[in-house]
Amino acid sequence: MSTPDSLQSTIILPNGQKMPCIGFGVWASPPEQCLKSCLAALGCGYRHIDTGDCYGNEAEVGQAVRESGIDRKELFLATKVLMAQGSVERSREHILASIQRLAAQQEDAYVDMILIHNAAVGDVEIKELWLALEQLYAEKRIRCIGVSNHGIGHLTRMKQYASVWPPSANQLELHPWCQQREVVAYCRQEGIPVQAYSPLARNTKANDETLQDIAASHGITTAQVLVRWSLQKGFVPLPKSDNPERIAKNAKVFDFTLTDEDMQRLDGLDQGKAGSLVLAVSNE
Ligand code: A2P
Repeated sequence: MSTPDSLQSTIILPNGQKMPCIGFGVWASPPEQCLKSCLAALGCGYRHIDTGDCYGNEAEVGQAVRESGIDRKELFLATKVLMAQGSVERSREHILASIQRLAAQQEDAYVDMILIHNAAVGDVEIKELWLALEQLYAEKRIRCIGVSNHGIGHLTRMKQYASVWPPSANQLELHPWCQQREVVAYCRQEGIPVQAYSPLARNTKANDETLQDIAASHGITTAQVLVRWSLQKGFVPLPKSDNPERIAKNAKVFDFTLTDEDMQRLDGLDQGKAGSLVLAVSNE
């Protein structure tokens, strides 16, 4: 797999759809700020935005898309569903509400990708959500369906009943301190694309000596090193920022390459579950 060479580069998903190689993350971005940040991100070339139904900003993501004037077909909008609603039909309606929030109530609106947010809801709930997503996929209201925070056990069990397989993504907490190697290897084996949330380790590692040393050797920021590491690992990183300068700079990662030695040094920072800031999945 070659490393993408621009912010508009796409990866081809298992069902043939294309996903821009970096997504703009909007977790914890308050609605009004989210609108401004998405406009800034779209203005500097991001073409993929990743939100969630529990972030409270789906409508503002949709508003930014419309205000940007960018052709909808050039954009990749992704959201997540957190809670099952007790039946496939009720979950389908619940997910449809996300699609309508993102698209300002247009009847025929679609979303590029919707993920089951968290496997911790339980296997029964995962199945209900997956079957609801499959229905909306068949109805062409969602172009790709996938999962987030799913471990090997969750995916193996899902494979038994899934009609749509493999999922178009497994979105995981991934940065050098939390590499989740087992589940990533399983995803590779199953052909499941891997997305990296919190790719900047929420800026908690900006003082790490190895990271600073590598950044200095290339004349770049520590955040740029982390986004580039993610891309060179073959992940789709989803850096979040509400600061326009950082939004722009975090995506300027196509005019330098981390050397094999840089990559090995960063790989060596893995702390397993202990390095997780949000969630290292259970593989049971
Ligand atoms: P802010 O929104 O004020 O820029 P992650 O993508 O790993 O979840 O990290 C997001 C966090 O990192 C946010 O708190 C964000 O704050 C901060 N952040 C994003 N980009 C940078 C950067 N280039 N330098 C320092 N902090 C950053």
